[in-house]
Amino acid sequence: MLRIGVLGSGKGSNMVAIARACAAGDIPARIVQVLSDVPEAGILERARELGLSADHVPPGKYRTKLDEEAERAYAGRLREAGVELVVLAGFMRVLKRDFLGAFPQRVINIHPSLLPSFPGLEAWKQALDHGVKVTGCTVHFVDEGVDSGPIIGQEAVVVLPEDTPATLHERIQVAERRLYPAVVGALAEGRISVAGRRTIWRR
Ligand code: GAR
Repeated sequence: MLRIGVLGSGKGSNMVAIARACAAGDIPARIVQVLSDVPEAGILERARELGLSADHVPPGKYRTKLDEEAERAYAGRLREAGVELVVLAGFMRVLKRDFLGAFPQRVINIHPSLLPSFPGLEAWKQALDHGVKVTGCTVHFVDEGVDSGPIIGQEAVVVLPEDTPATLHERIQVAERRLYPAVVGALAEGRISVAGRRTIWRR
């Protein structure tokens, strides 16, 4: 059983999808710790409803990243829980060396576009504004850049003429709830390796 730690700032639908896949026995993993930078985040409430250990950890003095002390606090909490894979699920802060160095090649993120298109905030809105006909979601390894690490998996979502930012984001999130558990499962089964920027899936 791969021990997973989840970091999130939002409502927690990806965390719930992964927790359900674990509980159903679909993937050989379990979530052992959920942490959030937002004390009232839905993800903490959802996690507690599922009986998971869930805590707010203060992010420190910056707005878009954790400060060094906070990075060490997050890494420390996850290490204490025996976490082997860190899953970012709507965690809205960039992680740097003090955190990533504690989990080399063991931090993954889901992003609501087909990277490298539309990194950063509100990627579904960026896609709509740009006028693309297809967008989607991407799971990737996390490096020190913004949404820039090696891509593990992607699912495409067609943009409809009547889409608003809200309807498009909703369909991307449906895709996310399929893609993320599948990727976590493949990692838990040891079926994914990395060669430079490319990842290789084994059956
Ligand atoms: C997801 O759509 C995820 O792709 C996005 O936040 C949402 C979290 O939803 N992440 C980012 O935009 C990161 N740059 P959730 O809290 O319901 O899982």
